[in-house]
Amino acid sequence: MKGPFAFFIHPLNVKDLYRVIPSLQNKSLEFLESVIKFIDPFVAVEMEIETTLKEKIYGMFIVIPLLSKQFIEDEKLAMNKLIKGSNLAIKFGAKIVGLGAFTSIVGKAGMNLVKNFGGTLCFTSGASYTVASCLEILDDVFNRRKLDKRSLNVAVIGATGAIGKAITKLIVKDYKKVFAVARNKTRLNVLKNEVRADNLFISTDIFNACMNADVVITATSNPYEIIFPQYLKKGAIVCDISMPHNTSEEVLKNRKDVLVIEGGVIELPSEPTFRRLFNDLSWNDIVGFPENNVLACMAETIVLTAEERYENYSIGRNIDENKILEINHLAKKHGFKVKMKEIEMISRTG
Ligand SMILES: NC(=O)c1ccc[n+]([C@@H]2O[C@H](COP(=O)([O-])OP(=O)(O)OC[C@H]3O[C@@H](n4cnc5c(N)ncnc54)[C@H](OP(=O)(O)O)[C@@H]3O)[C@@H](O)[C@H]2O)c1
Repeated sequence: MKGPFAFFIHPLNVKDLYRVIPSLQNKSLEFLESVIKFIDPFVAVEMEIETTLKEKIYGMFIVIPLLSKQFIEDEKLAMNKLIKGSNLAIKFGAKIVGLGAFTSIVGKAGMNLVKNFGGTLCFTSGASYTVASCLEILDDVFNRRKLDKRSLNVAVIGATGAIGKAITKLIVKDYKKVFAVARNKTRLNVLKNEVRADNLFISTDIFNACMNADVVITATSNPYEIIFPQYLKKGAIVCDISMPHNTSEEVLKNRKDVLVIEGGVIELPSEPTFRRLFNDLSWNDIVGFPENNVLACMAETIVLTAEERYENYSIGRNIDENKILEINHLAKKHGFKVKMKEIEMISRTG
């Protein structure tokens, strides 16, 4: 048995909390935020899985009890909880920790955890496989729709972040125009200077960038809806990588012409078995996915465990292109498959 790995998860927002624990529905956001702060990290579920190469892997999903907005609002509290969660992972013998959702946003995208734990524990944000899988799923959509990327404009929202920057660099030569969007102009200019492509346009204006885009890829650290129905061209394709999602529920309800894909959903090589499920909930209840599906960031942690590659892999905001290619290759070798999944009305946004 290889591992164990640990993977950090957290309730994305209050709706996510209500979904997992319906009895909390009469409690206000303010009340829940004030209580959740004092809860220590805990193991929500253990998973065992066999890859197509017959490697058996074991790991655990540790809840870092904070909502996405709390990670941004109180980074010190978030780092304290991440350190506690990492110590819990060490106690259970974990060798590598995957940083899910906003646990990879704080502390310089995992760099502070790496510094804190030296050689005793390794970390990965899963950004490399997330990038690879999103680009693969978009190519699949283009193939099925017989679309040529060279005639399409794309907007990358969150283009200076770990995922957005790697995507922008990889795709810029393939599309007609690429609009790179974020709030901080200095970082956008650094990106423009690094990429040096005539078809790359930087912008702080999400509306204008989307209005001109056939494809919108969003990977931001904004935990709210920022892509609205009136922003999108007729027949636009949206790939929403952000957790929680950035696409407004109004887009899902009222823009049936728009395809909204969930970025980075991966089908596992076999049916996993689960133990110690929190509150007797199912895997689907806890993470919001069917039993044999995980997010690409989770899959990256499992693949690295299968390979016994206990190293700091996708860390910081400069993701190495070679690692994107490598993890994609390793995932395929172990039978992981990228899955096309349209975003449903699952109230994980907002
Ligand atoms: N699906 C998966 O498997 C998976 C895996 C890993 C991560 N994720 C999710 O992907 C998202 C991005 O992760 P990351 O590690 O790349 O984050 P990151 O490195 O912190 O980058 C975030 C980016 O978003 C931009 N941004 C923040 N607020 C914005 C706003 N209101 N409008 C426009 N741009 C905004 C930031 O730039 P400015 O600050 O300048 O605006 C930055 O470019 C997160 O939601 C994360 O949870 C998903």
